[in-house]
Amino acid sequence: MENEFLTIDDVAQNLRVTRQTVSRYIKDKELNAVKISKSYRISTDDFKDFLNKNATVDEPSVSYLRRTKNCSLDYRDKADEFEILFSYVNGDFSPIERNHNQEENRYIFGDNYFVLKKLLDTHKGKIDLVYIDPPFGTGSDFNSINDETVYSDKIVDSEFLEFLRKRLFLLRELLSGEGSIYLHIDKKIGHYVKIIMDEVFGYRNFINDITRIKCNPKNFARNAYGNYSDMILYYAKNRDRQIWHNIREPMNEEKREELFPKKHPKYGYYTTHPIHAPGKTIDGDTGMEWKGLYPPKGRHWRYSREVLTDLDNRGLIEWSETGNPRKIVLASEHKGFKVQDVWEFKDKGLSYVDYPTQKNENLLERIILNSSNESSIVLECFCGSGSTLKSAFRLNRKFIGIDNSAHSLDVVRKTFKRDNVECNFYQYISKD
Ligand SMILES: C[S@@+](CC[C@H](N)C(=O)[O-])C[C@H]1O[C@@H](n2cnc3c(N)ncnc32)[C@H](O)[C@@H]1O
Repeated sequence: MENEFLTIDDVAQNLRVTRQTVSRYIKDKELNAVKISKSYRISTDDFKDFLNKNATVDEPSVSYLRRTKNCSLDYRDKADEFEILFSYVNGDFSPIERNHNQEENRYIFGDNYFVLKKLLDTHKGKIDLVYIDPPFGTGSDFNSINDETVYSDKIVDSEFLEFLRKRLFLLRELLSGEGSIYLHIDKKIGHYVKIIMDEVFGYRNFINDITRIKCNPKNFARNAYGNYSDMILYYAKNRDRQIWHNIREPMNEEKREELFPKKHPKYGYYTTHPIHAPGKTIDGDTGMEWKGLYPPKGRHWRYSREVLTDLDNRGLIEWSETGNPRKIVLASEHKGFKVQDVWEFKDKGLSYVDYPTQKNENLLERIILNSSNESSIVLECFCGSGSTLKSAFRLNRKFIGIDNSAHSLDVVRKTFKRDNVECNFYQYISKD
């Protein structure tokens, strides 16, 4: 690179930032540039100086540069992170309806960009769990069962990505050190959103891309495989520090039949396991004679002889007709299965729900139980019917919900009253 000059585009590409950001560095004299035939050029030495300076100084723009190790998407009109976070908005929350005296458990009516910015004044680093279910950039309107438009999903393509990116920066700041975010999205745009999430939260903090089976298999005529799933991108604010309760998947009846097919008169469904394991014990208790038997050749008793006798006394050893003992393992003591990254939680049809695109509450409960504590605040800034808030309330978490659809406000006020969910309602009023 010696004795060469770089263009603004070269520098932007190198730093994985926008042209506007590079121009700001030049304007703020952080980056030295010379004007050559009407456009700015940066010498390679000046660029190296800039990199060196920024690699050691701890300030917001620097941590941004460090994060550029992540992949990032380039598109027109990409706003600067600093500007998103620190631009000033002048507005406040004004009460619509108060139903309790606690600080949290509230719904705020308004554009979530302004509401999230306002919340930064009071809730920076205080939210343990964000679940968001934004519009998916489909270009469509979503209607109620009475055919009224409930919300419009008309921001598409890169504009949609930028709409989301701006909000994700704000959400990141609101998350606590142990917090995490689940973003629900479809598979048309979801892979681009993954790259935006990498940029905002850091590739290292990506945990799972969960495939959610959303409906029954489709049988359409199109030359394509049936698309019956969408995706949930799960990131931690700080990987390995996130709240994680290792919720397990309960065994269903089909699995029970497969794994525990026998029925015990006293203990219910069960299966049996051998009471010996590979490896010979030299001189120890687990190699000795028990009830007239020795472990098979090259094996040892899995339990001490005292434990074996106790199990037998309690009727938990099954003896075959040929005198072979096996341990009885009960279905009722099964601890459930480790949850994998394909989840089946189908949504109900419009005639069964309060709001179009309303999400399955069992799905939300799994996320809330696994990734928040009872004292946690759960935030959903595209909350629609308030399904996330309702699940959080039922699980004794605090909640903050935001939506800018008047229909959402109506539905949440009505259904929360019906379902005894305590919530205060506010609206964001701009003072500009
Ligand atoms: C997919 S729906 C959410 C449905 C919700 N998860 C449920 O279970 O009912 C997306 C929601 O985002 C809201 N929304 C879209 N843009 C918004 C914005 N800028 N600020 C606040 N809410 C917004 C829409 O009004 C809509 O209710």
